[in-house]
Amino acid sequence: MKLWGGRFTKPTNELVDEYTASISFDQKLAQYDIQGSLAHVEMLAKCEIIPHEDAESIKKGLKTVAAKIKAGEAELTEANEDIHMNVEKLLIDEVGAVGGKLHTGRSRNDQVALDMRLYLRDSLVTLIELLTKLQEALLEQAQANLDTILPGYTHLQRAQPVLFAHHMMAYVSMFERDVERLRDSFKRVNRSPLGAGALAGTTFPIDRHYVADKLNFDGVVENSLDAVSDRDFVVEFLSNASLSIMHLSRLSEELVQWSSAEFNFVELDDAFCTGSSMMPQKKNPDVAELVRGKSGRVYGHLMGMLTTLKGLPIAYNKDMQEDKEGMFDTVETLKGALALFAPMIATMDVKKDNMYEAVAKDFSNATDLADYLVNKDLPFREAHAVVGQVVLHCIQENIYLLDLSIEDFQSFSELIDEDIYDVLAPKSVVNARDVVGGTAKNRVEDQITQATSRLADSKEWIEVHAEKVNVLK
Ligand code: ARG
Repeated sequence: MKLWGGRFTKPTNELVDEYTASISFDQKLAQYDIQGSLAHVEMLAKCEIIPHEDAESIKKGLKTVAAKIKAGEAELTEANEDIHMNVEKLLIDEVGAVGGKLHTGRSRNDQVALDMRLYLRDSLVTLIELLTKLQEALLEQAQANLDTILPGYTHLQRAQPVLFAHHMMAYVSMFERDVERLRDSFKRVNRSPLGAGALAGTTFPIDRHYVADKLNFDGVVENSLDAVSDRDFVVEFLSNASLSIMHLSRLSEELVQWSSAEFNFVELDDAFCTGSSMMPQKKNPDVAELVRGKSGRVYGHLMGMLTTLKGLPIAYNKDMQEDKEGMFDTVETLKGALALFAPMIATMDVKKDNMYEAVAKDFSNATDLADYLVNKDLPFREAHAVVGQVVLHCIQENIYLLDLSIEDFQSFSELIDEDIYDVLAPKSVVNARDVVGGTAKNRVEDQITQATSRLADSKEWIEVHAEKVNVLK
């Protein structure tokens, strides 16, 4: 007999059971579900809605059920549809009819919203921690490469030389925004929907704030209709995760390029690459490629969730059961990618000489020749044209700017003096970008200092919030 079987005259069609059940995936919420129930039942006793002895037996039973599920000793069935009814059934088997008092003043609608929030807030802390570890690995590479110069690209054409440290710091900034977004979203996730009942609240004199406090929420989702039908926090998470995986995917693409023979700028550690079954010489950047590929499924989950929610009337609709798999998969996908990326970046061998050679063999100092002429009062547009001519000449002669003699230079412009060789040296070109956020060494050092201090702030946040979400352990 189903927990809700009273008004039914025959058993559910087996295919319906199979189709509508969520136990195959929502069992992931088991421990959160039980934690929520423990807080709920304590509140029921405190508010004198059920006797204290009953609450005690229920609590004891719930703990046994939790342990059995954890040990894989509990039978979770499709006939009991989802994790909420499976736990309730197991509880009643454990403690008898008194277990049936647990669901007083509660619906699966507020219960499932609660479980989702407990799961997600826990995951947010873990993801933020993983993001900061990746930031640390990038910061270390930046610190170690404050004198490493490589061509900076636009349109994948060599543009202006930059410090490798500067390039790493760009990613530190990107992941810092990701952390900031997840931290901000935590505030909206960390509210308790419990007490909303099915949609309208409950007739029992419950204390929603008591439950919220017990579970370390920052407050309640006020409106009961909103509390059960809101899945904005899932969409917001999927959107934030999409940005993170997009950042990882862009970094992946760079690693794939840089580790190719054509670039030969980095060598990824053997421990983070794989081989070919046929070509013995191959060492493939599979992790980076797979992370790049997995951005697809994360974006897919975001689109899926937005589409599922669009057009749903308030309040709960069964469609909303579709909120889980995409969220779980996104958490796992992002966790997996971040956990690999931090050590992969940390162990990456940066081929400084190859980078430098690429800088020496290009025209990425051409802007500096133009700027040099501008400093001698030639209008920038005219300087640009002169340098264009110089570059064309070099291309025809198959040489680079620094290969020109001073006479060659002066044949293009009388304004050029001997000091041009210093000005056009890669190191000078880099250090000339001495503006806030520019690639000059001292400016990159500033970025590292500031990012490091903001990272310390994230770590403090993690410590405080890891404690907050720790109700399960
Ligand atoms: N398994 C359901 C879900 O994941 C739980 C809520 C069901 N509520 C209901 N009224 N049928 O959405």
